[in-house]
Amino acid sequence: MDKFLIEGGIALKGDIRVGGAKNAILPAMAAALLLKDKISFDDVPQINDIKMMAHLMRIIGARVDHDNESLIIDGTNCSFYEAPYELVSKMRASIYVLGPLLARFGKALVSFPGGCAIGNRPVDLHLKAMERLGAKIDIEKGYIIAECDRLKGNDIVFDKSSVGATINTLMAAVTAKGKTRIFNAATEPEIEFIIDLLNQMGAKITGRNTTTLNIEGVEDLHSCTVPMIPDRIEAGTFLIAGAITNGDINVKNCVPEHLRSLCEKLTEAGVELEIGNDSIRVKGHSNIHSVNIITNPYPSFPTDLQAQFMSLMSIADGASFIEENIFPDRFMHVAELNRLDANIHLEKNVAVVKGVKRLSGAEVMATDLRASAALVLAGLAAEGTTTISRIYHIDRGYHQIEKKLQAVGARIERVLG
Ligand code: EPZ
Repeated sequence: MDKFLIEGGIALKGDIRVGGAKNAILPAMAAALLLKDKISFDDVPQINDIKMMAHLMRIIGARVDHDNESLIIDGTNCSFYEAPYELVSKMRASIYVLGPLLARFGKALVSFPGGCAIGNRPVDLHLKAMERLGAKIDIEKGYIIAECDRLKGNDIVFDKSSVGATINTLMAAVTAKGKTRIFNAATEPEIEFIIDLLNQMGAKITGRNTTTLNIEGVEDLHSCTVPMIPDRIEAGTFLIAGAITNGDINVKNCVPEHLRSLCEKLTEAGVELEIGNDSIRVKGHSNIHSVNIITNPYPSFPTDLQAQFMSLMSIADGASFIEENIFPDRFMHVAELNRLDANIHLEKNVAVVKGVKRLSGAEVMATDLRASAALVLAGLAAEGTTTISRIYHIDRGYHQIEKKLQAVGARIERVLG
């Protein structure tokens, strides 16, 4: 298995361009199943989660071509309505095919997604929504068996804000008979992207940017072209890279509005930011101040940047409290950061981070996508050499992260294992 070797202590300087948003592209690929036509997306990075989703689409019968950063999906000949265990167990986003398959075929067999390193990943809200739209749901041998002649619009109230359940419900409701209202809908930028995509395809969704979405079912949808939104989590990761190495990085192709909560916390930590229209320049500071964060649904601080921000706080002055409210077990990176001489301990879903003067390079192990990004950031700041194993985790959500970091001066190399 590949490893990263990182020589820390170098201030990173220069431009880094962010790619298309993984968590917008994955549901957009599922939405393509609603069409008996081709649809294409640009700015689609060659990351492993997207390759896994493409594999699932091909099993369902779609034609998927992904060359360089252009993705073309042709759902014309889709006929199979099963998402098998071996794929769903590896990538939870496979659950996104549930809504579109039900809408198109009136039937869907989707394996229950297993848990993952960040904790239990239930799908009860997805299933409740499908039942509210008239589907019969059975669970057999680890599979969700969903059936419905024609989905019918209905009111759906989510107990909690869920990105996936909101998107799955939207994709099921756009061609359901009649009107659907979703209450307590999530409002992440990736959801706004999917609303824009579905409306461009001919759907009738109103309430964008609010927690109440209204969907008027339509008979047919058609292909369209929409520009891909940038990956706000990749952008945030590189902003923290600039801060933690006391560098000067210009993160290009990002939407500053999507990063408001992170930028506020970086400013509080003493980092200098220059906000442009589609870029953010970050200038590090030799003395990072400790700052508390609480993760919550957008626009609060995103859980997907919690681990990366913890790396920064591990070398801040004083103590910081990092409260994780989305995935309370999302702390696999703590033990690994402590191997780099960080001083972090957990109190339930709160990490107490006592800043240290310097981290020291060591051998560590990636456990999940964002934890591995946190270890890269910590390695960039640590004195000496850090070796990170199991970096297949990071390749799920970052395209050639080592090349982007090398381009701004980082001494990081991928050792093929
Ligand atoms: C999406 O996951 C993202 N994944 C996650 O990013 C992100 O961390 C998460 O949203 C929160 O922002 C993709 O978009 C592919 P949720 P999702 O449903 O949809 C609970 C990354 O690193 N819940 O918003 O699975 C759930 O346990 C990944 O890129 C239920 O209880 O997240 C969590 O506590 C990691 N029942 C909360 O809701 C359900 O049916 C929010 O989860 C669904 C969710």
